[in-house]
Amino acid sequence: MPNLVVVGTQWGDEGKGKIVDLLATRVAAVVRFQGGHNAGHTVAVGGEQYKLRLIPSGILHSGTVCMLGNGVVLDLEELCAEIEALVARGVDVGPKRLRISRKCHLILPYHRLLDEARENYKGDRKIGTTGRGIGPCYEDKAGRCGVRVCDLEDMELVRRKIRQALDEKNALLAGLYGRKPITEREVLDSIVRPAARIKPYLADISEEIALVEGAGGEILFEGAQGTHLDIDHGTYPFVTSSSTVAGNAAAGSGIGPDHLHRVLGVVKAYTTRVGSGGMPTEQGGEIGGHLQKKGVEFGTVTGRERRCGWLDTVILRESVRLCGVNSLAVTKLDVLSGLPELKICVAYNYRGQIVEYPPQAEGGLAEAVPVYETMGGWTRSLDEIRSFAELPAAAQDYVRRLEDLAGRPVSMVSVGPERDQTIMR
Ligand code: GDP
Ligand code: IMO
Ligand code: MG
Repeated sequence: MPNLVVVGTQWGDEGKGKIVDLLATRVAAVVRFQGGHNAGHTVAVGGEQYKLRLIPSGILHSGTVCMLGNGVVLDLEELCAEIEALVARGVDVGPKRLRISRKCHLILPYHRLLDEARENYKGDRKIGTTGRGIGPCYEDKAGRCGVRVCDLEDMELVRRKIRQALDEKNALLAGLYGRKPITEREVLDSIVRPAARIKPYLADISEEIALVEGAGGEILFEGAQGTHLDIDHGTYPFVTSSSTVAGNAAAGSGIGPDHLHRVLGVVKAYTTRVGSGGMPTEQGGEIGGHLQKKGVEFGTVTGRERRCGWLDTVILRESVRLCGVNSLAVTKLDVLSGLPELKICVAYNYRGQIVEYPPQAEGGLAEAVPVYETMGGWTRSLDEIRSFAELPAAAQDYVRRLEDLAGRPVSMVSVGPERDQTIMR
């Protein structure tokens, strides 16, 4: 298998974790290249669930090395907790299995405090972040005042950076947001112990990827969040703070773009979104309730109810273009069983015009009115189905129509959370 980038084509939670876990046996390494523990990737194995936040979804396969590239933002305490939790369940997470870039920026306690305080301050203009400090950490990275993993080898440098940062952070926390200021000691205490714990894992990820490739190994790049949460291309300002598109797999891990051979887009058979921002196909009432309940649509990280609605192929089509998607994996098709008819959004009516791509103006999506096609539903449960031909005719039609509208073939169809509940085409 050539190197493969797996990305979400909607607003996250498409089922990337399940798909990456399945494909991980075919590659030598799985690399995360952006985001942090705002991600929640669930892998179900024999009725057991593994909720991965920072550690790539290849960790359950002992022959696969997992890497965190430079584009990832790291909360050291959370990382250590995730390692310990996996180890307690018998998963090998030794330094041969997990490699961490020294260029990763650290999420520090003041990032988390600022994320939360700022959201509160915004009142009804909240982004609805995961509250994990992601935005403030990427701000410091871009502002050139972040603390990186490599700095941990020089604690005097770390102290100096934190002291300088605190002047500014506390002015905001206490002065503007009315919060208790945070001390240098508190910040240092949160990193000293975990820093020692992760030392054996540190690596030059760019070099390690080159070594794996040199030995003939193939790499899978695991995206977090989704294309429409991308800082540039997403529904700004209701986005995350990293670049989630496939192209960033190169910059976020330290390889050339020519090493990204194929892109697999993961698309849920309907749409979900957590947090604020436009979502043209959102459904309340019975339809929304069916998707929410049957799909168990609760956020992995925050436990919030996910907003649910019909499949939106306008945003899907744009993800195909933005990420250079070659083929698609459709997930959660089983959740649609039992709905008498299904709708697919094929275009928007935007300010009186029919458009096939999302409007770019801020808030444009909130004005877009979906144009739907209606398709027949099916009643049969798909849980036990293992081949495309066995799917009810209406389910086959639905997948084929999705392919037409996206302009890309569907190579995988998922009909349940378990590994074997997958149809390979
Ligand atoms: P990710 O963030 O993209 O990895 O997705 P999440 O793990 O946050 O959310 C997807 C959820 O759906 C998880 O609980 C998965 O176990 C579950 N899941 C994945 N594929 C399927 C499927 O085909 N059918 C059903 N019913 N559940 C699925
Ligand atoms: P995975 O990888 C779904 C959303 C948040 C919020 C916005 C900004 O599991 O698909 P942030 O904390 O990143 O500053 O929040 O982005 N968000 C996600 N939604 N899945 C995710 O990750 C998400 N990560 C962030 O809900 O709307
Ligand atoms: Mg998720």
